[in-house]
Amino acid sequence: MSNIDQFKTTLTDGQIFKKDFIILGTGILNGTAVPETHVKIPLKTMNRHGLIAGATGTGKTKTLQVIAEQLSLKGVPSVLMDLKGDLSGLAMPGEANDFIMKRSATIGVEYSPQGLPVELMTISNEKGVRMRATVSEFGPVLMSQILEVNDTQQGVIALVFRYCDVNHLPLVDLKDFKRVLQFVTNEGKEAITKEFGQVSSASVNTIMRKIIELEQQGADRFFGERSFEVEDFTRTKDGKGVISVIRLTDIQSKPKLFSTFMLSLLSEIYETFPEQGDADQPKLCLFIDEAHLVFSNASKDLLEKIEAIIKLIRSKGVGVFFCTQTPTDVPDNVLGQLGLKVQHALRAFTAKDRKAITKTAENYPDSPFYKTSEVLTSMGIGEALITALNEKGIPTPLAHTLVRAPITRMDILEDAEINSLVSKSDLVQKYNQDIDQESAYEMLERKMMQLEKEQEKVTLPKPATKTVPKPKQEESFIEELSKNTMVRQMGRTLFRELARGILGSFSGKRR
Ligand SMILES: Nc1ncnc2c1ncn2[C@@H]1O[C@H](COP(=O)(O)OP(=O)(O)O)[C@@H](O)[C@H]1O
Ligand SMILES: [Mg+2]
Repeated sequence: MSNIDQFKTTLTDGQIFKKDFIILGTGILNGTAVPETHVKIPLKTMNRHGLIAGATGTGKTKTLQVIAEQLSLKGVPSVLMDLKGDLSGLAMPGEANDFIMKRSATIGVEYSPQGLPVELMTISNEKGVRMRATVSEFGPVLMSQILEVNDTQQGVIALVFRYCDVNHLPLVDLKDFKRVLQFVTNEGKEAITKEFGQVSSASVNTIMRKIIELEQQGADRFFGERSFEVEDFTRTKDGKGVISVIRLTDIQSKPKLFSTFMLSLLSEIYETFPEQGDADQPKLCLFIDEAHLVFSNASKDLLEKIEAIIKLIRSKGVGVFFCTQTPTDVPDNVLGQLGLKVQHALRAFTAKDRKAITKTAENYPDSPFYKTSEVLTSMGIGEALITALNEKGIPTPLAHTLVRAPITRMDILEDAEINSLVSKSDLVQKYNQDIDQESAYEMLERKMMQLEKEQEKVTLPKPATKTVPKPKQEESFIEELSKNTMVRQMGRTLFRELARGILGSFSGKRR
């Protein structure tokens, strides 16, 4: 048998799937594309996560685009973290040209350009669906992470959440959070010391300062109502999976905010989605472009949490795909969990580069057809070494692949197109109004006014002295609050702590 025939047989035999799959391209041997060697990914193992790596300009983002397109066509929705703003083009049809027609013919796939259902989303000021979370939902663990506080301050934050939990004070936005912190060291000091012990005002001051810093980074846009429901990621339109493009171009300089946002999203998905069992296709795929930003500045603690949740989220039918320059950007514990590997060309400029190449080559299955480390540095743009997991969880044969061209636009949307897309979105209608319901801030303000009035009655006609709330009054206030029906109506926002189980607790008091 000739080498080419052997190659065809290996790829064919190694990619026999019972269930549906997507086609990424065709195999290349000795620098030439080989027909009839489609390189496929079975949908069934797409919840086993993946990596798309390669030097700048080698085709990572286009590969991501191709995978998201093919998934959408199969009815699988996805979420794309768009850090460079180059993914909005998915909403518009691609443009056929000679290069693309020839490429498609070589690969043996039809080129049928079409726009796909796209929902633009934002956590800041970009146009699109506003994604928000309440402070209550975010929970004390993530709040401490994002504020980068020490253990003592973490304890104070945990206490504040606990206090609000017990006393039914909804923490919606950062204004609420700040107001409660203020309360803890001023008017409420006596009652809180009695119930929870001493709270250091130095710690509270530090936390306050960090919240203000966070606000200056624009995080106050992120906290509030209406909070985003992750079920809205899983929609389909005309049988096609909706592609949610989260526009994060302004987050590059705020890696801490990004990694915390990622973790909060993954936790929320994990908490909300039902167990998926042995499904034929994923429920949702999440793609993180420029993923080194998630890991490079994350604390050890945060990293461990990300690792843990990535492992767990598989059972919910969610696949997470990291897009980054070299696999060494991804921590080993995460790398070891990734089923799909798409490796575009690497450049060997420095000793560090060469080390990364050796390490990368070791992470790929041996192939009788290639010397991996050589292919790694010599592949062309839009080519990649690909191996997936077959339905039994065994790696498919390593294939140097000519990746198909995206059927959607390879360029970004124009402003007018973005405006039109956003104006037609029913999710924008759902999420983009500001709601400032009565929450901790207003409730505490009201309480203080009430106390002052009572105090006036008692002390008249003497001049008013500084008021200190009495524990008894404290209790009646709490009773009043718990009777407040509006508070109960706030339902999902209230008292929900994000991924309680996974993210653990500080004090052990919280479940
Ligand atoms: N699969 C592909 N089909 C057609 N052209 C491609 C493909 N992949 C990459 N290209 C070309 O290479 C350019 C760079 O690709 P891109 O995905 O943006 O690189 P990266 O994300 O690795 O920096 C694209 O603008 C496109 O012209
Ligand atoms: Mg890119």
